[in-house]
Amino acid sequence: MGFSPVLSLSQFLSSILFLFHFHTTISSSNYSSSSHFCAPDQSLSLLQFKESFSITSSASERCQHPKTESWREGTDCCSWDGVTCDMKTGQVTALDLACSMLYGTLHSNSTLFSLHHLQKLDLSDNDFNFSNISSRFGQFSNLTHLNLNFSGFAGQVPSESSHLSKLVTLDLSRNHYLSLEPISFDKLVRNLTQLRELDLSSVDMSLVVPNSLMNLSSSLSSLILNSCRLQGEFPFSMRKFKHLQQLDLRYNNFSDLGPWGCGLKGKFPGNIFLLPNLQVLDLTDNDDLTGSFPSFNASNIIRSLSLSHTAISVYLENDFFTNLKLLEVLALRQCNIIRSNLTLIGHLTELTSLNLIGNNLSGQIPSSFKNLVQLQSLYLGNNNFSGRIPEFLGNLTLLENLGLSNNQLSGPIPSQISTLSLRSFDLSKNNLHGPIPSSIFKQENLDVLSLASNNKLTGEISSSICKLKVLRLLDLSNNSLSGFIPQCLGNFSNSLSVLNLGKNNFQGTIFSPFSKGNNLGYLNLNGNELEGKIPSSIINCMMLQVLDLGDNKIEDTFPYFLETLPELYILALKSNKLHGFVNGPTTKNSFSKLRVFDISNNNLSGPLPIGYFNSFEAMMAYDQNPFYMMAYSIKVTWKGVEIEFEKIQSTLRILDLSNNSFTGEIPKEIGKLKAVRQLNLSHNSLTGHIQSSLGMFTNLESLDLSSNLLTGRIPVQLADLTFLAVLDLSHNRLEGPVPGGKQFNTFNASSFEGNLDLCGFPMPKECNNDEAPPLQPSNFHDGDDSKFFGEGFGWKAVAIGYGSGFVFGVTMGYVVFRTRKPAWFLKVVEDQWNLKARRTKKNARRNGARRN
Ligand SMILES: *[C@@H]1O[C@H](CO)[C@@H](O)[C@H](O)[C@H]1NC(C)=O
Ligand SMILES: *[C@@H]1O[C@H](CO)[C@@H](O)[C@H](O)[C@H]1NC(C)=O
Ligand SMILES: *[C@@H]1O[C@H](CO)[C@@H](O)[C@H](O)[C@H]1NC(C)=O
Ligand SMILES: *[C@@H]1O[C@H](CO)[C@@H](O)[C@H](O)[C@H]1NC(C)=O
Ligand SMILES: *[C@@H]1O[C@H](CO)[C@@H](O)[C@H](O)[C@H]1NC(C)=O
Ligand SMILES: *[C@@H]1O[C@H](CO)[C@@H](O)[C@H](O)[C@H]1NC(C)=O
Ligand SMILES: *[C@@H]1O[C@H](CO)[C@@H](O)[C@H](O)[C@H]1NC(C)=O
Ligand SMILES: *[C@@H]1O[C@H](CO)[C@@H](O)[C@H](O)[C@H]1NC(C)=O
Ligand SMILES: *[C@@H]1O[C@H](CO)[C@@H](O)[C@H](O)[C@H]1NC(C)=O
Ligand SMILES: *[C@@H]1O[C@H](CO)[C@@H](O)[C@H](O)[C@H]1NC(C)=O
Ligand SMILES: *[C@@H]1O[C@H](CO)[C@@H](O)[C@H](O)[C@H]1NC(C)=O
Ligand SMILES: *[C@@H]1O[C@H](CO)[C@@H](O)[C@H](O)[C@H]1NC(C)=O
Repeated sequence: MGFSPVLSLSQFLSSILFLFHFHTTISSSNYSSSSHFCAPDQSLSLLQFKESFSITSSASERCQHPKTESWREGTDCCSWDGVTCDMKTGQVTALDLACSMLYGTLHSNSTLFSLHHLQKLDLSDNDFNFSNISSRFGQFSNLTHLNLNFSGFAGQVPSESSHLSKLVTLDLSRNHYLSLEPISFDKLVRNLTQLRELDLSSVDMSLVVPNSLMNLSSSLSSLILNSCRLQGEFPFSMRKFKHLQQLDLRYNNFSDLGPWGCGLKGKFPGNIFLLPNLQVLDLTDNDDLTGSFPSFNASNIIRSLSLSHTAISVYLENDFFTNLKLLEVLALRQCNIIRSNLTLIGHLTELTSLNLIGNNLSGQIPSSFKNLVQLQSLYLGNNNFSGRIPEFLGNLTLLENLGLSNNQLSGPIPSQISTLSLRSFDLSKNNLHGPIPSSIFKQENLDVLSLASNNKLTGEISSSICKLKVLRLLDLSNNSLSGFIPQCLGNFSNSLSVLNLGKNNFQGTIFSPFSKGNNLGYLNLNGNELEGKIPSSIINCMMLQVLDLGDNKIEDTFPYFLETLPELYILALKSNKLHGFVNGPTTKNSFSKLRVFDISNNNLSGPLPIGYFNSFEAMMAYDQNPFYMMAYSIKVTWKGVEIEFEKIQSTLRILDLSNNSFTGEIPKEIGKLKAVRQLNLSHNSLTGHIQSSLGMFTNLESLDLSSNLLTGRIPVQLADLTFLAVLDLSHNRLEGPVPGGKQFNTFNASSFEGNLDLCGFPMPKECNNDEAPPLQPSNFHDGDDSKFFGEGFGWKAVAIGYGSGFVFGVTMGYVVFRTRKPAWFLKVVEDQWNLKARRTKKNARRNGARRN
């Protein structure tokens, strides 16, 4: 995994540009406040404004300064935090409430709009709870700076924005539910002739014609429109943007709520490099942009170039490297640069970030990279680099982010890296072996550490791991690590969010206790040799969304205490030695958010847990509101084949109680769990009839009731389950006709074998006339998994190659996030996902349209 350097750099640059302007002006003028008192009406307006919001920490993410808390009646409002007044008149001229943790609706009757003299207004990084941007913003006729970045505004950008003809900077970015109509946009670009910096990232501009931007060509120095759904031909004549220094038209799939991108098409505007002032160019993820990369003019001053994942074929001529000596950021993810001479990259000695992910590059990592002494981020993942991890990396002393995942690197992890000060370190999916050098744990700034998969790392985890106090993601899964897991991992640090130690040979009991207030969202210990009981202190993991303890040797009764975990989505306890009855719930709202409940392969007995069937609310219907659910790594079983893939999906629902000793009948209550997609009750001792209410499970894709003692007929309602791809009713005592037609035509005899009294196609036994069911033509569209994926966030898994009709037997791994802004994690997984998941444009659009 790796952070996309482009992402951070261009944003970083823009924020610097912006903040610089903004803050210098504000702070240089506040000395005036002591001598001039605030006009009383202004004071009152501010106080009323303050009163209309609450202060909540979740409202601001980037930073938190609850500025309004210092505002007191009876004091000079010009001295209040975030407030700047005009020296002479005492009128408020600037209001900077960035990161002020404000939460609530900003109505159009807000007293904010009484501050007529505002010139600068910054409300960024608050949570205005889907407020519309009031048309009254258009009344701030003297406004020069407006920043509503990342503040939860929604709806249409009012056309009155075009009245703000003095605006120099306008930032409405990252309000994921905002849209901008062509008519408003046209007015805006025609009237805002002073505009130098424009950032509308994530605003839905799908109807806007890119060419209208030409109206801004003479003024703009920075244009940032990433994830804006802008579509159409790219080359508006770029050469006219004489002052442009920064152009970011990147499409960012991870715009918090879903993928919608720029979708620019046409030929790559080679002449863009003739812009005399262009320093930053980011066209990442405009995958319809074609053409080839121009040769460069030595006079170019470009510092940051990102063409990742465009269809531009990038062949870097040798003089690229000699002409672009100033380059600090080079991002060419999936750019097919294979013919370029990589050795020459060693000439770009100013590089701070290099991203060559996914280019099919092979051979050793070029030794000329040792000259890149300014490197802070190096991403070479998803290539075929082989050989050892070069020791010279230890000499790149500024290196903070190192992503080498998914290559063929072999040998041990060099201990030289201990001299670095890494923040993210990803060596997953290579052929590394040997122990984890304890020097890794000296990297006290480590935020993300992944050594997972394909590697064969051995030995124990040194307890010095306990020193990594800021670690957020630790993934050592799929190795051959052994010994005890350091106990400190339970109360390790409140930053740890993702912990995956699955598929190793760890022994002993599960570490504990888990401390109160921890932040763990994902805990996967699947596939180890862990024994003993499930520690009850897990209930301190109030954020836990995924808990997978499957495939261990846990000997315990059913852990009812897990019911109290308020955010639990996925509970997998399969293949352990759980025993006894399961007759919860013991509390209210128990497991109400659970989407996957897998307790298969244990020794559980007694009746099926009817009580839980009544409380699994999330399995009864899909949520109205989409939530963030990210598969950090999912393995599914499909007819015995394990498939690993990574994607976002919000509709996964699995109930698996198979291979236990449950007895009694299948209760009617099961019919409530209509949203379930895979139901497996096989290999138990269930008796009675198959509930016809299973016919209500309209999303069911797999139904396995095999190897029980079920009697009676197969309910004809099952034939209506259009998505059913796998059916196994074998080895029961069922009788009568196999329902014909529709879905049932797709199943062969193995689905029904071992039921001696079943008759009719596909069974060998003929039915008597009175038994024969009517035959209906099949309308099953084999191979269509679009329903399954379509309801996620528009992601399609690459696992498609494995065939149709997915059936899920989850063995490991999900990360689910429900926060409004799971930004850090998105960055972490972004690059890995890019290769794995393909967006379907149609879905992107539909999801976009569905956003309100
Ligand atoms: C806008 O918000 C993003 C995310 O919080 C931040 O990275 C960026 O710096 C902000 N831009 C400005 C101009 O404040
Ligand atoms: C502005 O006001 C703040 C808080 O009152 C104070 O800390 C700061 O020094 C002032 N800045 C200037 C330039 O006077
Ligand atoms: C935020 O919006 C939701 C849904 O529109 C509403 O139920 C809630 O009351 C709002 N909260 C505030 C503080 O306005
Ligand atoms: C402002 O408008 C909202 C919604 O229309 C209303 O609930 C609120 O009471 C109004 N506030 C004032 C101060 O009039
Ligand atoms: C806007 O600025 C102009 C020129 O500086 C000034 O004359 C006018 O009073 C200002 N208007 C407001 C509402 O502050
Ligand atoms: C936003 O504006 C739309 C359209 O004018 C309206 O339907 C909606 O109720 C408004 N929302 C709020 C929170 O005021
Ligand atoms: C353009 O700006 C002026 C103020 O400078 C304003 O009076 C006029 O209404 C604006 N025009 C549009 C179309 O918004
Ligand atoms: C804006 O573009 C329109 C149409 O392209 C043109 O007629 C108009 O003159 C332009 N206005 C400015 C200020 O560039
Ligand atoms: C290179 O840049 C110089 C100076 O800007 C310019 O005169 C020349 O035409 C450019 N050459 C090419 C091939 O674009
Ligand atoms: C790549 O560049 C290096 C350094 O100039 C040179 O030695 C090498 O021969 C080049 N390789 C190829 C394949 O051209
Ligand atoms: C790292 O730097 C040291 C000191 O400059 C040098 O002696 C050593 O050879 C370098 N190591 C590698 C692998 O380049
Ligand atoms: C965006 O989505 C496309 C299609 O799924 C994918 O190929 C690309 O890598 C993604 N880019 C990012 C930045 O996530």
